[in-house]
Amino acid sequence: MSYTLLTTVKISALAFTFFCAASFADQDHEHRRESLRALDASIQQLGMDVSSAERDAIASAMLAGLDVSRAAQQQNSPRYGDRFRRDAHAKATGCLRAEFEVNGDIPNQFRHSVFANPGRRYQAWIRFSNGDMLVQTDGEKDARGMAIKLMGVNGTPLAPELGAGGTQDFLMANNQAFFNRNIHDYAENMQHLARLDRSGWFFSLWPPRLHLKQLVRAAQTVSSTIDTPLQERYFSILPYRLGETEIKFASRPCAGADYPITVDQSDENFLTAQLADNLQSASACFDFVVQPRNTDANTPLDDATVIWEEKDSPFIPIARIHIPPQTFTSEAQWEFCENLSMNPWRGVGEWEPLGSLNRARRLVYHAVSEFRHTSNNAPQQEPEGWCLPGEVCTPQQGLNIVKPTWPLPRCFDALARSVDGQVLDSQCADDSYAIDFSAQKVEAGAAPGSSAATKSIQSHY
Ligand code: HEM
Repeated sequence: MSYTLLTTVKISALAFTFFCAASFADQDHEHRRESLRALDASIQQLGMDVSSAERDAIASAMLAGLDVSRAAQQQNSPRYGDRFRRDAHAKATGCLRAEFEVNGDIPNQFRHSVFANPGRRYQAWIRFSNGDMLVQTDGEKDARGMAIKLMGVNGTPLAPELGAGGTQDFLMANNQAFFNRNIHDYAENMQHLARLDRSGWFFSLWPPRLHLKQLVRAAQTVSSTIDTPLQERYFSILPYRLGETEIKFASRPCAGADYPITVDQSDENFLTAQLADNLQSASACFDFVVQPRNTDANTPLDDATVIWEEKDSPFIPIARIHIPPQTFTSEAQWEFCENLSMNPWRGVGEWEPLGSLNRARRLVYHAVSEFRHTSNNAPQQEPEGWCLPGEVCTPQQGLNIVKPTWPLPRCFDALARSVDGQVLDSQCADDSYAIDFSAQKVEAGAAPGSSAATKSIQSHY
């Protein structure tokens, strides 16, 4: 197993975010204003082309993000331990090994960044999560997240302050719209959230305030109860640029995917138990799809409350995500998962998050991640493969399989045709990217359902 410590040159100003993070606890207004000014300067140094009003909003969102982390830690502790967590999507329901395979018939216009080579396969980690900043029982209504980290990617990193490259992250949630239009909404809303006041920005009697559309979106965001993370659709919500095309992306369960519901849903960690049960011997599958922007329709880049309607711009499959049968509930794996960092700006080549909320995420995710890692004295590392830190393992670590049996790789699909009429590349012809599944099953830890696995599921929070 090998890991690269992120020793990459970091833009010096960003180191300041950490300084701020470590010293905000008892600061007065004057200190806070100073911190805002310094954050403002660091945003300018990143060379981001934003107005001064936007810079102020980003800086304010960063400070509020750190306040939320602290407030949430106090609420989560001591029942769920004293560690600082992500200030959104705090609870993981599973952290899984997966394979991400670019479709052989990916249309030319999308062949950029990690999608440049049809048939290319990447090892990946997927973190499924509940959206709240507090650790809650899985039966609570909440947003659900799916964050994917591809490894072994080539190309120039988009945000050098996040590391030397080699990984690309895709962050999604199971709703199509966000509850704030832009970073200005978000920064105001976060001021309330940092005081654990979840509704104050959306409506209040005094001062009189009503953000009706945002309120509806917020209600939609936190309204889902699910049986398993495997049967949800997940959306980027915000737009990106892939090559020359403005897109949103999503992942959806493959056609025919069906996961038996087998566990007691009154258990507070039943989503983890359900994943463990389904993945004990069967695999799971998602199509990764993109929705090109149709400028003839209402598809704004900087109003995240607006859904890009599928009738105006349908989703096009460009990759497939295989989640092989596996065991994933060891303490070491939960620990690894907690210390992962996902960031929409971690990516390579012709890939760019768009809109003011996305611009803010470049700094906010980084600041919050640095804060929690430093507070927890935890290592900040980008994984290079499926192996866990400190464990001796083979490339198939943790997988309960000899070779993937379902779904068949798309190269076996005799009916596969390019949607734009191009000659198809064979996805399986070039084995240099293929993952070797030929080795026999390796030590997979406790089988799901065994008492050891159940104990691990119950105790990881
Ligand atoms: C609207 C689209 C958004 C989606 C789909 C989304 C999705 C997610 C997901 C899935 C995670 C968990 C990542 C993981 O598993 O490690 C996450 C974490 C987080 N999100 Fe978002 N998010 C969105 C918007 C935002 C915005 C606008 C902000 C702030 C400007 C934000 C701030 C955060 C932070 C601070 C974390 C924790 C990062 C860490 O500690 O590593 N999110 N988000």
